[in-house]
Amino acid sequence: MQADIERILLDRDTLARRVHDMARQITADLVGPAGHENFREELTLIPILTGSIIFVADLIRHLPLRMRIRLISVTSYPGSATTSQGAALEQSLCSIPSDLTGAHVLVLDDILDSGQTLRLVCDQLRNRHPASLRTCVLLRKDRPQARAFPVDYVGFDIPDDFVVGYGLDFDGYYRNLPDIVTLRPHLLGQAHKG
Ligand code: IMP
Ligand code: MG
Repeated sequence: MQADIERILLDRDTLARRVHDMARQITADLVGPAGHENFREELTLIPILTGSIIFVADLIRHLPLRMRIRLISVTSYPGSATTSQGAALEQSLCSIPSDLTGAHVLVLDDILDSGQTLRLVCDQLRNRHPASLRTCVLLRKDRPQARAFPVDYVGFDIPDDFVVGYGLDFDGYYRNLPDIVTLRPHLLGQAHKG
């Protein structure tokens, strides 16, 4: 696995520091200056599977708020594709919850690329009338579609390269790498945008 790495883009310490900062910011925005003991409502966290799992696991341990987690699943990069094949909701145990009226919702994804995934999810969530709806991504790629999509919290802006690690995969692999890295180009095959 180590031999497949081309370069480390974001190492584990940089990720840990930024995730902690993001949690502070999210908490401050939800709770306001009065302190979290005054935030009587609860947060509904909606992580998009599977890429967000490590990010979310780290983030929530810095969020001192009453919360529940509702996992949802969206596919857009089937198999070894490295460009989006169109986002689709997976109808399963992890489908969009229907009972969100009045909830404070925070949607979390690993990376904002074309914006199709978040657009699909947010459109569905808005139909369920949450009290508030915020979006949070660890990474945002430097491409017009990604920048055009409004998100409330962005961990890092990165170049328009295909990255893996810290939850992100290529063909299901590399999620367990602790750093965010690029892979040696020959591994990505012809689908790679370069
Ligand atoms: P979007 O719908 O094009 O914004 O893509 C978002 C989804 O595509 C993310 O949730 C990721 O699962 C996946 N994705 C986009 N870029 C990458 C990447 O560089 N590495 C791994 N997965 C990616
Ligand atoms: Mg994903």
